[in-house]
Amino acid sequence: MASVLVTGGAGYLGSHTCVELLSAGHDVVVFDNLSNSCEEALNRVQELTHKSLTFVQGDIRYQDEIDQVFSDHHIDVVIHFAGLKAINESLETPLTYFDHNVVGGTQLLKSMEKAKVFTLIFSSSATIYEAIGDIPLHEDVPVLSKNNYSYTKLITEQMLQQIAKADSRWSIALLRYFNPVGAHKSGRIGEDPQGVPNNLMPYITQVAVGRRKKLSIYGHDYDTIDGTGVRDYIHVVDLANAHLCALNNRLGAKGCRAWNIGTGRGSSVLQVKNSFEEVTGIPIAFELSSRRAGDVATSCADNSRAVTELGWQPQYTLEDMLADSWNWQKQNPNGYN
Ligand code: NAD
Ligand code: UD1
Repeated sequence: MASVLVTGGAGYLGSHTCVELLSAGHDVVVFDNLSNSCEEALNRVQELTHKSLTFVQGDIRYQDEIDQVFSDHHIDVVIHFAGLKAINESLETPLTYFDHNVVGGTQLLKSMEKAKVFTLIFSSSATIYEAIGDIPLHEDVPVLSKNNYSYTKLITEQMLQQIAKADSRWSIALLRYFNPVGAHKSGRIGEDPQGVPNNLMPYITQVAVGRRKKLSIYGHDYDTIDGTGVRDYIHVVDLANAHLCALNNRLGAKGCRAWNIGTGRGSSVLQVKNSFEEVTGIPIAFELSSRRAGDVATSCADNSRAVTELGWQPQYTLEDMLADSWNWQKQNPNGYN
């Protein structure tokens, strides 16, 4: 069993990963500044697992704060979720994004090096791919930075690749997530976006719970099955388990390697909306509107590398994702508040 430092562990993906880590018997230290999360999520993680974790409130941009974590706790592996993730915001405040995501990442790496901890799992994103056509995206297709957010992910990936190349002590996993949705089966933890959601799934569940009037479908003239955008939605618990597989793969391995974390199946916006209505029995008011800037028609993973090399296999269907997203939202209509 390993002792795992989870940066950003109070957030959406981090909290679900903490549940799986604790359930598998690992020790967990969460480091989070709570800028986009709350301690209640961690209380619920502990309640669900009947295990305790250590929480340290701090910011990855401040070296002394991270150094302190490594001197207070024995750490074997770092899972690095902490960062900012809103594309629009990244266009308005690029410096803030570079500061948290790139400078913060660099500070974390320096602290790791000092503490002689060389195993890292990094949260990357499928947004770095230059998605052209509807071909499943393999890890080796061209990458392209389309906005400041994706640029921070790309820079960090490239920095990690160079570090691992120069120093053979490093063992790094780059996990490129497709579209994480869903929630823990219990409905006790889930996605809790601040303000108006940018992403499709929380928008649909907020319409269903009465917090929003109707869904705007961004674009209905794409070259897809029904004209609406197609994405590879992945259940957050499957995604959390991919981190456990990556952890097993990286302990004892060397170098830096990227893996796609998606199901390999695409669903259109209309298919998601219609399936949500079928699964929950709740009609979703909607309007067809124009395309959203920066969107692609189709984004779908070729996940064969993760399946063969990590021994990871996604378990959940789109219907599971919708049912679990709704279960979380209806139990927590205002999120953790
Ligand atoms: P989230 O906002 O729910 O979680 C991020 C956590 O990091 C939050 O708890 C926040 O308080 C914390 N944080 C932010 N800046 C920090 C800092 N400077 N120091 C310490 N803590 C800080 O987001 P999430 O959806 O859980 O995403 C986690 C990671 O996965 C992010 O790096 C994100 O870019 C990446 N990612 C997410 C998605 C997605 O759709 N959710 C897709 C691809 C990649
Ligand atoms: C978005 C980000 C991406 C990020 C990902 C996960 C953009 C351009 N891309 O991806 O970088 O990694 O979230 O956080 O923001 N849709 C609607 N109405 C809505 C919301 C979305 O029709 O109110 C459509 C979109 O046009 C898209 C699909 O639903 O076709 C999924 O959208 P979303 O959940 O925002 O994910 P991505 O666009 O894939």
